[in-house]
Amino acid sequence: MHLEFPILGAKWAIGSIALFHTAVASMAIGFAFFVTVAQIVSYIRKENRYDLLAKKVQLIHVCIYNIGTINAIGLVFLLSGLFPQFWAQLFVQFYWSIIVEEFLFFLLATTITFHYFFWDKLWGHKKLHIFLGALLTPLFFLQFYIINGLGSFMLTPGFGEAELSLRTGVLGWDKMGFYNPSFLMLTLHRTLANFAYGGFSAAGLCGIFLYFAKKPKLKEFYEDGGRLAFQIAFMAFLSLPVAGYFYAHVLKNHANEAYMNLMWGRGDVVAGGVDWWWLKHICVAAMMGICLTYFRKTSSADKEFTIPAIMVYSVAVLYLMFYLAMGMVMTWAFFWFMLAFGVGGAFLSVHLLKYHGGSGRGVFLLIGILSFTTVMLGGYSREASRPRFVKRISHYDKVFVPEERQPYLMVHVDPEDIPKVTPKEKASGPASLIRENCSGCHTLTRVKNYPLDNWQVIVSQMEAYGLKLTREESKLITAHLDSGRPY
Ligand code: HEC
Repeated sequence: MHLEFPILGAKWAIGSIALFHTAVASMAIGFAFFVTVAQIVSYIRKENRYDLLAKKVQLIHVCIYNIGTINAIGLVFLLSGLFPQFWAQLFVQFYWSIIVEEFLFFLLATTITFHYFFWDKLWGHKKLHIFLGALLTPLFFLQFYIINGLGSFMLTPGFGEAELSLRTGVLGWDKMGFYNPSFLMLTLHRTLANFAYGGFSAAGLCGIFLYFAKKPKLKEFYEDGGRLAFQIAFMAFLSLPVAGYFYAHVLKNHANEAYMNLMWGRGDVVAGGVDWWWLKHICVAAMMGICLTYFRKTSSADKEFTIPAIMVYSVAVLYLMFYLAMGMVMTWAFFWFMLAFGVGGAFLSVHLLKYHGGSGRGVFLLIGILSFTTVMLGGYSREASRPRFVKRISHYDKVFVPEERQPYLMVHVDPEDIPKVTPKEKASGPASLIRENCSGCHTLTRVKNYPLDNWQVIVSQMEAYGLKLTREESKLITAHLDSGRPY
């Protein structure tokens, strides 16, 4: 028996809350970084407006952070209730990592709150204020780093599979499990993706503000702010296919099943008739087209935060190479699809720029929405592609170490020091003989419900199945069962 979640079911309940958490938490990381960059730009240029934009974004960040944290607690509740075995295992293996994570939550919540609410009070101490805000990024990354250790472990347990790993360290800190084969690439890819996502989301916000702004000065301000955010995002976007390519390589070697599922659309990667991994790439390709034309179109104009054409073209070549490689591995249809959506995105972006009289608002909003969708789809594909974790780790019982077995798993135990386990007193009476010997492979109910009287046959049948009894024990048991007395 296990608990079920109404309507959604346990699996989808976990999936949806986890995805929502990823989306919100990644956005928070991106926002923190953007706020710092905007504050620094404002400080260097002695221009108030970027600081004001930073404050606006930080307010949204405070709200989002709260939602994300409460949501994380919800996730823990769901996990420990619906999949207690899974959660207990992770908790035992990574206890100290999770405790540090919790402490970081505390530090982050207080720092964000102080940074936002003392914005005006710290006006005369701008450097200190910027520093306080800048602290958020490394704290976030530390937190994110820990979660990546656990997340990548579920994908590529590597040497971390339980016992061996526990021998090498402290109970509750599974070092080899944490630094598993896909840890580095997952972290690198997610870090870059977060910068891109945060920047695109901030650009999306500027796009929304632009739709409502009336005053020309304000419009110009959001236009520049959006471009700044867009630019930060674009830089990170540039490197994603490189990181992604090597990440795929690691998966191919260490998580072959997940790799196959992604590449050939198997398992949960395809749900409801849709290949969500393809859909993710369709969004990415469209974003690439949009980015390239946006910067080509607006860089020629004499505006702030432009990007050199060479960079725009190098991104195009990089993505083209990435999709060529993917096409070779998957199907050429994939390559053509991505090319088509890239070109489609480019045309759409040209159209939107024209339609809004040169303003980037339509493009900003669209890229914000697309990057959000990409993060959600990427998260889904990653989790859906891997084989179920709990089923894979069969020796779960060795990780969740019962007290009497703990001495075996400690570091450098001298075999002489291991206490000899005194064998249990053999049960002697026939009733306890039955209880002990007949409940190993099925329950005693099975025996009690058996209607016939051929116990002699049954007992020898069980011996044929593998039950080891001495002749004496066998006789005692048969006699007791024949007599019909209780056991
Ligand atoms: C090595 C494992 C094992 C042990 C130990 C064991 N059994 Fe069984 N038992 C089985 C298997 C396998 C079946 C057949 C299950 C099935 O066909 O569904 C079975 C079935 C039975 C049945 C049902 C037979 C039927 O035809 O419906 C009875 C009664 C039974 N066991 C009694 C015992 C008794 C009494 C003992 C202790 C002396 C015992 N078992 C110990 C493996 C074992």
